[in-house]
Amino acid sequence: MRTKIIAGNWKMYKTNREAVELVSALKNELSGKLQTGVILCPPYTALSAVVDLVKGTDWKVGAQNIFWELRGAYTGEISGEMIKSTGAEYVIIGHSERRKIFHEHDLIINRKLRIALKDGLKPILCVGETLEERETDLTKEVVGNQIEIAFRKIGIEHAANIIIAYEPIWAIGTGKTATPEQAQDVHLFIRDLIATLYGKELADKLTILYGGSVKPGNAEILLSRPDIDGALVGGACLQADSFASIINSAEKIMKS
Ligand code: PGA
Repeated sequence: MRTKIIAGNWKMYKTNREAVELVSALKNELSGKLQTGVILCPPYTALSAVVDLVKGTDWKVGAQNIFWELRGAYTGEISGEMIKSTGAEYVIIGHSERRKIFHEHDLIINRKLRIALKDGLKPILCVGETLEERETDLTKEVVGNQIEIAFRKIGIEHAANIIIAYEPIWAIGTGKTATPEQAQDVHLFIRDLIATLYGKELADKLTILYGGSVKPGNAEILLSRPDIDGALVGGACLQADSFASIINSAEKIMKS
């Protein structure tokens, strides 16, 4: 079985003090060695503090965004090298909030993926359809397009470092979750698409997370599906008890 991974996307929440409190509380909830991979994605400002706090655990840290150039006069932007220098190893790219609010289209996302890989970061690429697209049966076309463009000019040795997160936009922050069948269906479609692009060996190893209103109450049923390798959690990662409970659901499946 692929290792389950639970990633927490903190979005624009938590000051440095609150970040320290959350990670400390999480460490209290989750003592002992985990078989599940844990990735914490705090805001840029708390990256270094969180990296320090997770020392001694197997937990990893990621940023939520990256700029598409190596360096230069880009006021307010953050490069991959800067992210790496905090000790973070992952970066979320193409989250639907970035696509919608900041107009990041697929070509920008492709540039961000390539620069992140060049800088030695592991991207968590988010894809997903709107409610309208789902209702008009366009889910696979939309998600397929997002993936094909995102992976352009990325060689197989780099593609192996990418995690994909399927996050139906209508399920993010809405309390509506895709059913396990809906999610599994899209995850399998994504794995098959990656097999077409890069071969079956890479596709079989690929981690595909589900995101969109993952909570303690629905995590286990989602995570028990064969192609759902973990979760990208928003709201429920902001409290130690609910995030720990989702991680424990993954642990239960890993150990079964
Ligand atoms: P949510 O967010 O769990 O609050 O729906 C998920 C995400 O945006 O990654």
